[in-house]
Amino acid sequence: MSDGYYSSKKTDDICEDVCGEQGSRAALSMSRLRCILRGLDLRAYMVLFVIVPLCIFGVYLHGQKITYFLRPIWESPPKPFHDIPHYYNENVSMETLCKLHGWGIRESPRRVYDAVLFSNELDILTIRWNELYPYVTQFVLLESNSTFTGLPKPLFFARNRDRFKFIHSRLTYGMIGGRFKKGENPFVEEAYQRLALDQLLKIAGIEDDDLLIMSDVDEIPSAHTINLLRWCDDIPPILHLQLRNYLYSFEFYIDNKSWRASVHRYNTGKTRYAHYRQTDNVLSDAGWHCSFCFRYISNFVFKMRAYSHYDRVRFSHYLNHGRIQDIICKGSDLFDMIPEEYTFKEIIGKMGPIPHSYSAVHLPAYLLNNADKYKYLLPGNCRRESG
Ligand SMILES: *[C@@H]1O[C@H](CO)[C@@H](O)[C@H](O)[C@H]1NC(C)=O
Ligand SMILES: *[C@@H]1O[C@H](CO)[C@@H](O)[C@H](O)[C@H]1NC(C)=O
Ligand SMILES: *[C@@H]1O[C@H](CO)[C@@H](O)[C@H](O)[C@H]1NC(C)=O
Repeated sequence: MSDGYYSSKKTDDICEDVCGEQGSRAALSMSRLRCILRGLDLRAYMVLFVIVPLCIFGVYLHGQKITYFLRPIWESPPKPFHDIPHYYNENVSMETLCKLHGWGIRESPRRVYDAVLFSNELDILTIRWNELYPYVTQFVLLESNSTFTGLPKPLFFARNRDRFKFIHSRLTYGMIGGRFKKGENPFVEEAYQRLALDQLLKIAGIEDDDLLIMSDVDEIPSAHTINLLRWCDDIPPILHLQLRNYLYSFEFYIDNKSWRASVHRYNTGKTRYAHYRQTDNVLSDAGWHCSFCFRYISNFVFKMRAYSHYDRVRFSHYLNHGRIQDIICKGSDLFDMIPEEYTFKEIIGKMGPIPHSYSAVHLPAYLLNNADKYKYLLPGNCRRESG
């Protein structure tokens, strides 16, 4: 940069020398013109050798940001969901609640299966299973010794089985060996593990019209939502659940746009475990989605490496513990990414850190009853223990 500036200054001086002491007016303006042209040339060189490389370097550093920022141009938003209003108050009878949704009430509740692919989210799994415990018939959990990105992984659940004694009589556990294919798209391993989960559900004894919850461990339906769906007749065969999105803890509320979790009335031969959009219906305000809600910084590093979007870890300093801790307390993005939205208004509205929330109202009961143990998930406690 300074080099370019310096040499252009020097040529101006040379031009001055040449141009300043010419005889006739015509000759003067001719050489002026030549000087100007030469000056332009120089600027063109500067653009070519300084600005363009700088831009290329900038795109290298921030390319992903640029493409995400321009997303509204190249991608239109998905078809909107049909939001089903959700009615609930603990003091309203089940019969009335079903009726409010336009459904009838059953004589006995459906059986409920909760099936998850487990990675390392031990605390969130504890909160999830305690929340759902009263209404779930069988908890189905599958874990692998491979992450989606093909890295070997300890069997975290098997190692910590003792923490889950309270559901042992209702647990169907499965372990599947990873395929460890190098350089493969992580979504292939993920699909392979979900297929195995279908088998495990059959082993667990699922039958037609049983309720099946398909969701990641950190997508927690609220207990009353599952109770409603098991008691009411005529609910849609597949229903997505709209969950409140949180990041790092319940201190950072992002939005209410999480929809991937779904509840199915099981249909043998037809129902397949999936985590993408399967219908247009979404039941409002049906629980919580707490992403990257880990106790230890080392869990964050593990998740960032094991994640299906490992390409987002573009620089090794992203995995630095001090950096991660600072980001958690600020509510910023671990991958330094632009919000994934479909309109400029939403992208700009969501840029920068997530505002702190001081509400711990309507959170899972087990979390509040054990606040000492899970302090790091509650507002005002962003510092993580080392370990
Ligand atoms: C719940 O309903 C009962 C009986 O109808 C009533 O006595 C009680 O005050 C209600 N509680 C609340 C919190 O509304
Ligand atoms: C993963 O599990 C499979 C099946 O138990 C086993 O054969 C394989 O050696 C394991 N691989 C690693 C890296 O632990
Ligand atoms: C979702 O959040 C938006 C913005 O905060 C709000 O306007 C909307 O009512 C919320 N919807 C539900 C179903 O909670």
